[in-house]
Amino acid sequence: GKSGYDHFMLKEIHEQPRALRQCLRGRVDELGGTVELDELDEPPRPTAVQFVACGTSYHAALYGAQLFQDAGIPAQAFLASEYVTSPPPAGEALVVGVTQSGETADTLSALREAKGRGARTLALTNVVGSTVSRECDHVIYIRAGPEIGVAASKTFASQLAALNLFALATANGGDRDALGALRDLPSEVQAVIDDSTAAAVAEEYLDAEGYFFIGRGLNYPVALEGALKLKEITYRHAEGFAAGELKHGPLALVTENTPVIAIATGDDELARKTVGNVKEVEARNAPVIAVTDGQSDIERYADHVLPIPETHPRTAAVLANVQLQLFAYHTAARLGRSIDKPRNLAKSVTVE
Ligand code: F6R
Repeated sequence: GKSGYDHFMLKEIHEQPRALRQCLRGRVDELGGTVELDELDEPPRPTAVQFVACGTSYHAALYGAQLFQDAGIPAQAFLASEYVTSPPPAGEALVVGVTQSGETADTLSALREAKGRGARTLALTNVVGSTVSRECDHVIYIRAGPEIGVAASKTFASQLAALNLFALATANGGDRDALGALRDLPSEVQAVIDDSTAAAVAEEYLDAEGYFFIGRGLNYPVALEGALKLKEITYRHAEGFAAGELKHGPLALVTENTPVIAIATGDDELARKTVGNVKEVEARNAPVIAVTDGQSDIERYADHVLPIPETHPRTAAVLANVQLQLFAYHTAARLGRSIDKPRNLAKSVTVE
């Protein structure tokens, strides 16, 4: 049952600390600074990685590709339905299917295409015994537990955590900062859930004409995911952009009736540039909702702040996403939507 929550989605958002603990359990040796994934008898040592996925899982794939790039391994994320038109993997490349259900037809078909091209394949999935787990050469389970809500919530967080484990196991084991951040992630997610004011902020924008989500780097996939979640469960128009792209067109749509939800964590070059983009939308009178760890000066240009604790950029993305999940959920709840079963959508999409 829903254990007292109004919707499975809210229950599953609240289950994220537990899901993340399950994902990490027994896999991180902090003393040795290593990651151990039992499912991989021998971790593949790819010279390049191609991710294929759809929807929310594609956003996780975009994040995963950045982790491998950071480790010096060329990596790209492809929409599974477009993979057939992409360049074949080279050399010892690994093709990774990210799919919660393990049954998504587009993703299975991209993986079969990759196999036909001679690539090794790996599945990152939630479902033991799923088609993807049987068809790939390797499998990593995200261990999120069953997800009932049609809109993915806890499984996205678990995908991001598992992608960190996968990247650390294959590419840059020994990154103690990243390992420590993963260890702290479940309790930080709990703190964000406990303290979130997303419901009150959502309340103020129920009549918005549209919602824009912007972020850079690892927060770019989070912006895309925030917009997708809002679309799916509220039926309102929302778009996610790389913050730098806003001025290349979408800015024409920005008005006082289009809140811009900007994710800026850390105080590096990426965050500073995002703050610059926020100034542009503020000058056009758009309401700004900043999701931030308080390190940049984005708060100066924001109407509302949805805070997250200061942490590693990899885990900051997970925490920022929790605020966006709650923003979407509470908007949908106030609009009286069918949150667990949005119109026209199914939990697993088995047609191409
Ligand atoms: C969004 C959502 C979908 C799925 C997509 C892929 O909330 O649930 O976009 O992410 O259909 O599904 P899986 O991960 O099962 O391959």
